Amino acid sequence: MISALSMIAALDANNGIGKDNDLMWNLPADMQFFKDSTKGHVVIMGRKNYDSIPEKYRPLPGRTNVVLSRQANFEAEGCLVFDSLATCLQNLELKDGQKAFIIGGAQIYALALESGLVKEIFLTHIDKTYGADTFFPVFDATTYKKTLLFSQAIDEKHEANFKVYQYTK
Ligand SMILES: NC(=O)c1ccc[n+]([C@@H]2O[C@H](COP(=O)([O-])OP(=O)(O)OC[C@H]3O[C@@H](n4cnc5c(N)ncnc54)[C@H](OP(=O)(O)O)[C@@H]3O)[C@@H](O)[C@H]2O)c1
Repeated sequence: MISALSMIAALDANNGIGKDNDLMWNLPADMQFFKDSTKGHVVIMGRKNYDSIPEKYRPLPGRTNVVLSRQANFEAEGCLVFDSLATCLQNLELKDGQKAFIIGGAQIYALALESGLVKEIFLTHIDKTYGADTFFPVFDATTYKKTLLFSQAIDEKHEANFKVYQYTK
């Protein structure tokens, strides 16, 4: 059984996380941070997020991939599928040192925050607005301790400045 969750997301300046079921930016240092943070752990995603990942990149390698869907017969190759967050958390066991990461999208971030089990959130705050149609849920940041992990400035590979924070309870 899983009793604590970590969460990871990248947000634009309006808390936007996606548009047309896709990401809106290409920021390699943030993508690397996502890979490094989640490698070896369990990643839990919504069915739309799963659909948005190009086939050649899924399941995300080196991680236990979990997809949440209410569709009775939904299958995702190489992934575990559950029809609720509660069933997922009841049925999974973490190995020593392993975390369960909620990796979005918006519906699944909201579910996790409602569960009260989110002890750690990694948020990349991007200093640019992209015209999103999907947004990170409002959450009470005052109940978390906020630590800046690193900053990235605009360069030839990064079209926007961003800062990566860890929020912990
Ligand atoms: N910037 C970031 O860090 C980041 C990270 C991840 C995703 N994204 C973006 O977020 C967008 C997708 O987010 P989204 O909110 O539209 O979709 P989502 O949260 O990825 O997936 C929604 C789906 O999850 C399933 N679901 C929702 N609640 C459930 C529940 N209580 N129990 C079981 N299954 C449940 C349903 O699947 P069924 O319809 O199959 O029942 C629902 O349609 C995309 O644009 C993606 O690129 C951004």
